[in-house]
Amino acid sequence: IDSGVNIIYKTVLKGGYYTAIDKNQIDYQADSLICIDENGQIANIVCPMDEDYETIQLEASQQDNLVVLAEDQVILPGFVDLHVHAPQWPNAGLALDRPLYEWLDQYTFPLEAKFKDANYAHLVYDNLVETLLANGTTTALYFGSVDNTGNVELAKACLTHHQRGFVGKVVMDNPEQTPDYYRDESAQTALDETEAFIHEVEQLNKDQAIPVTPVITPRFLPSCTDEVLVGLGKLAAQYNLPIQSHCSESDWENGYALETHGKRDAAVLDEFGLLTDKTVLAHGTLLNDEDLDRFKNRGVGIAHCPISNVYFGNAVMATHKILEKDVKVGMGTDISGGFDPSIYQNIRQAIMSSRMLEDGVDSQLSPEVRGQKSSAITAKNAFYMATVGGAKSLNLPTGQIKEGYAADLQVVHTKYPTFGHQKPEETFEKVMYQTTASEIDHVMTQGVFVK
Ligand code: GUN
Ligand code: FE
Repeated sequence: IDSGVNIIYKTVLKGGYYTAIDKNQIDYQADSLICIDENGQIANIVCPMDEDYETIQLEASQQDNLVVLAEDQVILPGFVDLHVHAPQWPNAGLALDRPLYEWLDQYTFPLEAKFKDANYAHLVYDNLVETLLANGTTTALYFGSVDNTGNVELAKACLTHHQRGFVGKVVMDNPEQTPDYYRDESAQTALDETEAFIHEVEQLNKDQAIPVTPVITPRFLPSCTDEVLVGLGKLAAQYNLPIQSHCSESDWENGYALETHGKRDAAVLDEFGLLTDKTVLAHGTLLNDEDLDRFKNRGVGIAHCPISNVYFGNAVMATHKILEKDVKVGMGTDISGGFDPSIYQNIRQAIMSSRMLEDGVDSQLSPEVRGQKSSAITAKNAFYMATVGGAKSLNLPTGQIKEGYAADLQVVHTKYPTFGHQKPEETFEKVMYQTTASEIDHVMTQGVFVK
């Protein structure tokens, strides 16, 4: 047959797929051919009505590049996890009954300090990256630890397992809020080591298909001196790098900024040049309108960590309002403030938490007692955050099944039988509510199957 097409794709996935168009709309296309090129990009998406559909299918099949999905499988973009504390993975599910301050001091800092040991770091990070990928997370924004020995192991784990990794050397130099055994020696050494890590990652990235991105990472205001914040703002500008921190997470942290700087923490971070269109701030349960306008103006993204917020924020982030204001927002697990490595689990919690703020039409409660009108978010909203919202926060061409985007994908099967016909919207909702790692059959990053 003279096909007249003759483009050799590396892989052609045949099946139905979902992708978010905007925060309220999910597109579904049945029986499509997602054509992935040698660079791991989605080069072409062909639907059954297109005239070259049969030819492309035949050629891919002859070249043994065609992957045909089963009846109960669908394709989704891989998820973006905007907030993971990699060294806290061994503590996931522990000590969630403690307040933030005590949890950091008694459980978290002692664990993070162990990542000076390269062997321990390798053991933990290898497992963490594999686990996140197995849960459909193709991109992750990580807090590492203070010590670069561990951070290098984390970058290597991302490269080895082919995950799109963003890794930050955690900076905490304030002797008043950090323990002697786990602290940067001085503002200057913290800045030097941040810079050293940037250069080490550059070396590791040579010839890698998915390079790791170093991230400027002041832990949060209480753990940092003004001097180090000034320096980190400058490094972020000099190297044009992403920035991550925590913001307006808890009453304690929120109060700390007001007490020590006389300002809200969003305003303080801004003053130090740490709010840019490459900044991602975690939690934000206590953000007010002024903070959100500031984020919008600067292009700052928010990492919404709804499981963790139950425990350490004791609050519900105003997700609906944030989406309405068009502030960038994605999903985060916040391991180990959050107990689960799955973004699906956080999608569910985001929806459930948002409903607890809702002052429903039948409500007998006054707004003083419970929340706001229209605070509830939908499964579509949450899926948008987990994919497009996260990708926008990191300025990445991922999170969508669209020509020109990276082939970062997951193939899942529905967990339970449908007992009859099910509309695509219904399948979507069930996938959001019921998928665990066991239902994720394949995961692909930049065109390469990693599960
Ligand atoms: N604030 C400062 N450090 C942390 C952390 O490790 N986890 C959470 N949830 N909040 C923080
Ligand atoms: Fe956190």
